Amino acid sequence: MTGMRAPMVVPAHPTPIAPLPRAVTIYEVGPRDGLQNESAQVPTEVKAEFVRRLLDAGLPVVEATSFVSPKWVPQLADAEQLLRALGPTAVQLPVLVPNERGLDRALELGCRRIAIFASATDTFARKNLNRDLEGQFAMFEPTMARALDAGVDVRAYVSMCFGDPWEGAVPLEQVVAVGHRLLDLGASQLSLGDTIGVGTPGHVTALVGAFEAAGVATDRLAMHFHDTYGQALANAYAALQSGITTYDASAGGLGGCPYAHSATGNLATEDLLWMLQGLGIETGVDLEQVAATSVWMAKQLGRPSPSAVVRAFGGGS
Ligand code: HMG
Ligand code: MG
Repeated sequence: MTGMRAPMVVPAHPTPIAPLPRAVTIYEVGPRDGLQNESAQVPTEVKAEFVRRLLDAGLPVVEATSFVSPKWVPQLADAEQLLRALGPTAVQLPVLVPNERGLDRALELGCRRIAIFASATDTFARKNLNRDLEGQFAMFEPTMARALDAGVDVRAYVSMCFGDPWEGAVPLEQVVAVGHRLLDLGASQLSLGDTIGVGTPGHVTALVGAFEAAGVATDRLAMHFHDTYGQALANAYAALQSGITTYDASAGGLGGCPYAHSATGNLATEDLLWMLQGLGIETGVDLEQVAATSVWMAKQLGRPSPSAVVRAFGGGS
């Protein structure tokens, strides 16, 4: 038998559709959202190499880790060691911070960008932050005020924007109210999370429209899709049609939330890139390099990537 040939990847024929955005920013969350959910402990040096490879592939933003309680998320307990291993450039990589204790840790390392993470629902705030809906703001207010005083950029996530496994459907106005409070506290950008991946394209259009109606411009919004029901890419397309230009994605489709078991992997960076390339939308990211990184990471984790595009690039085993 002759050796197996690698399958040929036929590039998508770029066919722009007006009036979609001409360029978008991909906010890579694989090292944080992806690895926070791994059952096995990933060595710090492997995490550092993962971050380096993603930056080398041209990803403009790579969220590196979380300064949360190591009892809550032991997978990211090595946040300090990881940033030290990454060297001086690490200070520009955003890190998740829930409270003042997390901010102290981030400031000590010189971090310039943090992301706080709120919930649109009371139940998930309790499950993920040990606070009720109101209590989460009491935790964020001093954290954000101190970060902004120190000149640190604060992004804000809102989780459970489309549905909550305990509360069911989440009203648009509830999401907008939480998002508005975070912007009023000084967040530079809101990332709207479909934490459990139940959203569908019409819902995306309605949610972005509800924010616009409340006076929030689309350039303040990012979308954060999980792919539980296979809707993430369709949802991203709907968001493009609504004018959103920042998308969170995770290399190889790694991810989930340890405090929402119905959350599976994030929208895969490669799947998003394939669609954007086909639409002629610029990202500055090298798709082949990201896919090669995911193939490498899948080997480290001992299982194949769930991303359809990574599999097409020969990373199925
Ligand atoms: P708590 O138990 O209420 O915290 O948890 P506490 O203030 O009472 O402190 C308890 C202990 O934790 C103390 O230690 C603190 O020092 C320590 P002890 O005295 O017992 O030895 N502690 C910390 N240690 C290190 N760093 C810290 C820190 N804070 C407290 N920052 C807390 C409250 C917020 C800390 C906890 O609930 C927590 O860490 N939650 C994080 C959960 C998490 O990371 N979830 C995943 C990220 S969110 C996500 O994935 C969704 C997203 O992707 C968007 C989407 O998909 O929708 C962003
Ligand atoms: Mg997430």
